[in-house]
Amino acid sequence: FVRIVSIVFYEERDFQGKSYDCKGDSVDLHGFIHRCNSVKVEGGWWVLYERNNYTGYQYIIGPGEYNDYCHWMGFNDCVRSCRIIKNVRLYKLKLFDRPDFEGTSLELTENMKSVHEKWLRPEVRSCKVMEGSWVFFEHPNFCGRQYLLEKGEYRNHSAWGALKAIVGSIRRLELM
Ligand SMILES: *[C@@H]1O[C@H](CO)[C@@H](O)[C@H](O)[C@H]1NC(C)=O
Ligand SMILES: *[C@@H]1O[C@H](CO)[C@@H](O)[C@H](O)[C@H]1NC(C)=O
Repeated sequence: FVRIVSIVFYEERDFQGKSYDCKGDSVDLHGFIHRCNSVKVEGGWWVLYERNNYTGYQYIIGPGEYNDYCHWMGFNDCVRSCRIIKNVRLYKLKLFDRPDFEGTSLELTENMKSVHEKWLRPEVRSCKVMEGSWVFFEHPNFCGRQYLLEKGEYRNHSAWGALKAIVGSIRRLELM
């Protein structure tokens, strides 16, 4: 059994224009496409980045056809790098209200549609991902900017690529 892992980027909407069939991590797509307005994910789950070197806005997408960038909750037509996400089945995350894993903490194993309900503060200042991959969203109800957090330690919000420590909702990344 070989899992097919592939994503096709198209410069124009509705799978038109120049395209690039990508099979794995890519640090800079600029040699292949100059903008991205539609995407077909043939297999695997991916994180797309607005800029090269895995920086800028992040978008997490799974198998399917996305005929314009609104469909992956894109803010613009820039996708400059991408990474494949590993599949996992266990989920455990610990949030801290101070940087460097200090202050009050909260352990999560389930989604959190609104962080404020349980956490009672607008910021998450550091976190440890013990199991699984998770997504932080800027706003409640899984909206706004997205940040992928894979197994590891994040001493402050810069470590997950955010400019601010505001987290509105948190979701387990369940790859089907
Ligand atoms: C991306 O990484 C390469 C190699 O590490 C580096 O030379 C380049 O300056 C980086 N580009 C940006 C925009 O950070
Ligand atoms: C986050 O931590 C890194 C490494 O410890 C440090 O270089 C950076 O300045 C910190 N950023 C903020 C916003 O505190």
